[in-house]
Amino acid sequence: MSLLFGTAEFNEKDHLVIGGCDTTELAEKYGTPLFIYDVAHIREKARGFKRTLDELGIKNKVVYASKAFGCLAMYKLLEEESLGCDVVSGGELYTALKGGMTPANIEFHGNNKLKSELELALDSQIGMIIVDNFYELELLEELTTAKGVTQDVMLRVTPGVDAETHDYILTGQVDSKFGFDVNSGQATKAMQKVVAAKGLTLKGIHCHIGSQIFSSEGFLVAVERMVAILEEWKADYGYTAEVLNMGGGFGIQYTENDTPLEPEKFVQAIVEAVKGQCSLQDYPLPELWIEPGRSIVAEAGTTLYTVGSQKEIPEVRHYVSVDGGMGDNIRPALYSAEYTGLLANRISDRNMENVAVVGKYCESGDILIKDIKLPEMVSGDLFAMTSTGAYGYSMASNYNRNPRPAVVFVENGEDKLVIRRETYDDLISLDCE
Ligand code: LLP
Repeated sequence: MSLLFGTAEFNEKDHLVIGGCDTTELAEKYGTPLFIYDVAHIREKARGFKRTLDELGIKNKVVYASKAFGCLAMYKLLEEESLGCDVVSGGELYTALKGGMTPANIEFHGNNKLKSELELALDSQIGMIIVDNFYELELLEELTTAKGVTQDVMLRVTPGVDAETHDYILTGQVDSKFGFDVNSGQATKAMQKVVAAKGLTLKGIHCHIGSQIFSSEGFLVAVERMVAILEEWKADYGYTAEVLNMGGGFGIQYTENDTPLEPEKFVQAIVEAVKGQCSLQDYPLPELWIEPGRSIVAEAGTTLYTVGSQKEIPEVRHYVSVDGGMGDNIRPALYSAEYTGLLANRISDRNMENVAVVGKYCESGDILIKDIKLPEMVSGDLFAMTSTGAYGYSMASNYNRNPRPAVVFVENGEDKLVIRRETYDDLISLDCE
């Protein structure tokens, strides 16, 4: 089975081609490490979510979680595709606005939004603030009163769902730093406070149960609990929600071991559950919002590295070092994430051996892929690591003072630099002598 996604293919030179662009030529033009995004694939994923929701006949909004990957060009692309975006910091918000996102299509998340960030959000008239805690709620009340404005908000609640994924990317469980707890009554108290607040309009509730989730079960339990909360609020307090936001978290395939549901299937299951629960409880069907991040950009991204040194320890391991590593992809070191890849410049070479692909950082844990079968490589070969489009560049660092890579968008045979490679001068640009 092939893990080549989107428009990826081989050409007659035996080179990997993405978006109609020969990756060896991209490496020559932009250098490596290089993030390459297949724009057609991003569009297809974005449209897929929207189409499925529309076909299921429910009012909806697809809000891309831009922490997965954001830059001016990405926000511009979202705007072209009429997607909303979720931002989680003043920096993301600033970039989204500069990238031309319609403010009304931006929603703001976070468990400790700064006063300055909330002010920027209010002054920019963004569409939605997802209130996470009482501190934020009070700050927002103060700020909206002081500014004489009204802001649409949702409450983030933790429905108490333990989805099956890595602990660090699990968020819907009771013991979480995010959101209002339901069982202890926090969520209901928050609802009452917002409803009473003059400058705030409560549009509904939000939950996000985790990330890289493979099956719909957790979502179904979450829907049941969310609709139960809404029903209780309607019965006891006469509050009816317009929007139910079920967050993101739809898993993708990094390696052959990953078997996530198709995005459409996730959406279908969620919509059916929402419709089912609402009709069971006789609750007016709310608008359904989802916040996919990874599932829109992960498979569209490929990181191109140049092979350098190699070390073979007989009977133990063969290390192949590339010119990037944990600075451009922290996920293997942080979450034991598994990836795969291929030789971009001799793609059909079948003279395979087992190797470990490692980075150039001064850490033994800087291992990109622990065990992979690849053709014998020589320095200068190009290794393409696939499905790196989510939480790769966005979590990149300058560890060891390595400059961060360039990012290029490719589509219909054209390449466009969207983030330039950092220079050594960039690295010292913030230093004061
Ligand atoms: N909505 C909320 C409120 C979130 O917190 C997140 C992700 C998303 C949506 C998007 O989730 P996605 O569809 O991308 O799974 N750095 C980790 C992932 C952290 C996810 C944080 N929140 C990783 O590399 O796996």
